[in-house]
Amino acid sequence: MNHVRARGSGRLTTAPRLRAALVSIATGAVALGATVAVASSASAGTTLATSAAEQGRYFGTAVAANKLSDSAYVGILNREFNMVTPENEMKWDATEPAQGQFSYTSADRIVSHAQANGMRIRGHALAWHSQQPGWAQNLSGSALRSAMVSHVSQVAGHYQGKIYAWDVVNEAFADGGSGARRDSNLQRTGNDWIEVAFRTARAADPGAKLCYNDYNTDGQNAKSNAVYAMVQDFRSRGVPIDCVGFQSHFNSASPVPSDYQANLQRFANLGVDVQITELDIEGSGSTQADNYTRVTRACLAVTRCTGISVWGIRDTDSWRASGTPLLFDGNGNKKPAYTATLDALNAGGSTTPPTTAPPTTTPPTTPPPTTAPPTTPPPSGGGCTASVSLQSWTGGFVATVRVSAGPAGLKGWTVGLTLPSGATVTNTWNAQNTGTSGSVAFRNLSYNGTVGAGGSTEFGFQGTGVGPTALPSCAAA
Ligand code: G3I
Repeated sequence: MNHVRARGSGRLTTAPRLRAALVSIATGAVALGATVAVASSASAGTTLATSAAEQGRYFGTAVAANKLSDSAYVGILNREFNMVTPENEMKWDATEPAQGQFSYTSADRIVSHAQANGMRIRGHALAWHSQQPGWAQNLSGSALRSAMVSHVSQVAGHYQGKIYAWDVVNEAFADGGSGARRDSNLQRTGNDWIEVAFRTARAADPGAKLCYNDYNTDGQNAKSNAVYAMVQDFRSRGVPIDCVGFQSHFNSASPVPSDYQANLQRFANLGVDVQITELDIEGSGSTQADNYTRVTRACLAVTRCTGISVWGIRDTDSWRASGTPLLFDGNGNKKPAYTATLDALNAGGSTTPPTTAPPTTTPPTTPPPTTAPPTTPPPSGGGCTASVSLQSWTGGFVATVRVSAGPAGLKGWTVGLTLPSGATVTNTWNAQNTGTSGSVAFRNLSYNGTVGAGGSTEFGFQGTGVGPTALPSCAAA
């Protein structure tokens, strides 16, 4: 953090723990009485974690559970990092190897280690086209959608209260210039699969930041533009998204983009945190070190860049070990890239980062009602009909409700549903509900009340227990 100002031109405050340096520039500026004051947050942290913390950021790494018995590995982990991402252990194939049977042993090991050593945890990854268990790979349509919702709900629920941020959806956009969604079995369940995953994660763990995570989105290009548009759309519609992860796997064919910082900043300007989530940069020596410096400085320069995670500790731990892309060599020695990263952290950034991690604001999933909602469901009939499709699993369900207008069209609507005993609505989107059990009324929001003659609109809700089986009522406003 460097603040530069002419003397007397304004307030300059720095965190008391940060050392301030006053640099008088012995040039004409001094002769003119316009001393330039540079208050630097230069610090003397000696580890990645402590130096990042002085800048209000975290420094993390991917961790493999089977390496937690390697004392050299654990020694570096505990000394240098204050955030961990399970490299494979929280993925769908690891956590739900058979449908409905959850296996948390390896992931729990990492979580326990992190908690015992004061580290936070990035969850990775709830919904992804890759590393699906075989049974999920063989599903499609509503069966897969239902399985995905169940998986997100169960895993995020298992770790509820323990996760700093979840990669809720990973790598859902295509490479190249199309700006399209990646084709996958999940995508083929319907374009809304991503927002359903986010809403489900929010309901399961309201305190975790919810992130979209991808690669080849590190600079401005067709793919990152498409992600940007999605995040913008989600924010405008109240879909709960808090952060965007930039994987940042770099090599000579995919170098650190020149607009890396600008790209982080434009996402941050949408009102989400940004994080560098899987950093590794192939190469060696000063070239590699310079690239790590660039990435570190870029994060420090973006106020909402809350932290950096590297994708492994030693080069030999990397998913692409032959590229020697990490900060420690195979013997655990610090590389020039390590020193460059630490120096960049200690030099501080060019903007004032928060002294604590930014608050996790939990945006409402729907705007508050502007008028008093009805206390009982309205009677059926009157210009519209409603139909419900259900995705259910043991203990929960997601209902998607289609509201269809009659020949007169609609200026507003209310759908009434009766839930079976024991069922409770936990989360509603594109409607405002009154009541959460028994007779529940769902009223349109400001943007979806008007439906043309013969047209339709959809809303949804998630619940615990058994979903509705009785026919819904629908009434025009
Ligand atoms: O554990 C088995 C082992 O028992 C078996 O003998 C061996 C044989 O191939 O495979 C081992 O599993 C491998 C696993 O890593 C653990 O090492 C898998 O084959 C291998 O596919 C898996 O690769 C992981 C990869 O994701 C899978 O897509 C990498 O470790 C992991 O670093 C990588 O991480 C991804 C992020 O999740 C998303 N972003 C890209 C990143 C790099 O590809």
